[in-house]
Amino acid sequence: MAETNLQILLRRRPQGMPAPDDFEIVETPVPEPAEGEVLVRARYLSLDPYMRGRMSDAKSYAKPVELGAVMEGQTAGEVVASRAPGFAPGDTVLGGYGWQRFSCVRPERLFKVDPQEAPLSTSLGVLGMPGLTAWVGLEDIGQPKAGETLVVSAASGAVGQVAGQIGKIRGCRVVGIAGGPRKCAFVTQELGFDACLDHHADDLAAQLDRACPDGIDVYWENVGGPVQAAVFPRLNDFGRMVMCGMIAQYNVAPGADAAGAPPGPNLGPVVRKRLRIQGFIVSDTGWPRYPAFRRQMLGWIREGRMKWREDVVQGLRNAPEAFIGLLQGRNFGKLVVAVD
Ligand SMILES: NC(=O)c1ccc[n+]([C@@H]2O[C@H](COP(=O)([O-])OP(=O)(O)OC[C@H]3O[C@@H](n4cnc5c(N)ncnc54)[C@H](OP(=O)(O)O)[C@@H]3O)[C@@H](O)[C@H]2O)c1
Repeated sequence: MAETNLQILLRRRPQGMPAPDDFEIVETPVPEPAEGEVLVRARYLSLDPYMRGRMSDAKSYAKPVELGAVMEGQTAGEVVASRAPGFAPGDTVLGGYGWQRFSCVRPERLFKVDPQEAPLSTSLGVLGMPGLTAWVGLEDIGQPKAGETLVVSAASGAVGQVAGQIGKIRGCRVVGIAGGPRKCAFVTQELGFDACLDHHADDLAAQLDRACPDGIDVYWENVGGPVQAAVFPRLNDFGRMVMCGMIAQYNVAPGADAAGAPPGPNLGPVVRKRLRIQGFIVSDTGWPRYPAFRRQMLGWIREGRMKWREDVVQGLRNAPEAFIGLLQGRNFGKLVVAVD
């Protein structure tokens, strides 16, 4: 039987937490590459929290996915046919081709990756966009120095695990925050953080006081909400808050009143403490720096200073459920889908 393309489309815009019915799974013919294009077969699809934003038509830094269009996402895969110079069948590539098995891609949207350097799926995690995010955000905003205390939320996740380990390489005391004892044990025992606090317990503020006796110099913000409210008052003078994401708020309707949004901190001390709070989007400045990042990260991996955990879901058809689980903390490590 001839192979088909499997695609996952956005059927409707979710209200609150996405539901499986917000997606539609279709089989279509395998596309033919036009002149100048490359036909790529996805082996792994990355599932990332930013995709919740693309499902909404609220004003943002990036355009929403149109209703009926293929969900946006990065994949790592191999070239099946090429009508573009510099690419040949069998090349392994990284790029954004969406939640689908096959896609025709312009070469400027592809990075060749060497599968001998590291398993292909890592190009979506520790060696991909999440790792690059951690590296860029700490270099540009967090700027952790030896002896400082760095706190990282969603510490067992794709970005958090890398951010914390870079903090250790820079000589910081690194304290993670994660959901539940299994994730916390992984963060300290496998990743080597100095401590990890469970945000499901009702005493996060007291746990922070015990784990950060000298206060907090850098906070890597992945979640927002009550976790942010507990960390914020403990920032030291000249502290930095790297505003990477606030996943706890992604299912709150834009413009929701205080009752609809999780409680946040009182920002009064920003001036008195001369805090730096800066948001960033990795795609603004990250991708031109990808080769330098990849070189450094591969070096750390070879030296045994950078570890990672992936949560691999089998089968593209399971992507919607897995993505919904990501927004509920059900993933444990970088979430990727093994497409076939
Ligand atoms: N600025 C950028 O360019 C950029 C790029 C990539 C990612 N990001 C952001 O970075 C953050 C982490 O992304 P990731 O890819 O590394 O995801 P991830 O950490 O692998 O997965 C998401 C994790 O967030 C935690 N979480 C989910 N809902 C939560 C809630 N209501 N309260 C507290 N924690 C919750 C869960 O971990 P626990 O079970 O441990 O709570 C969940 O496993 C996200 O906010 C994402 O949007 C930003």
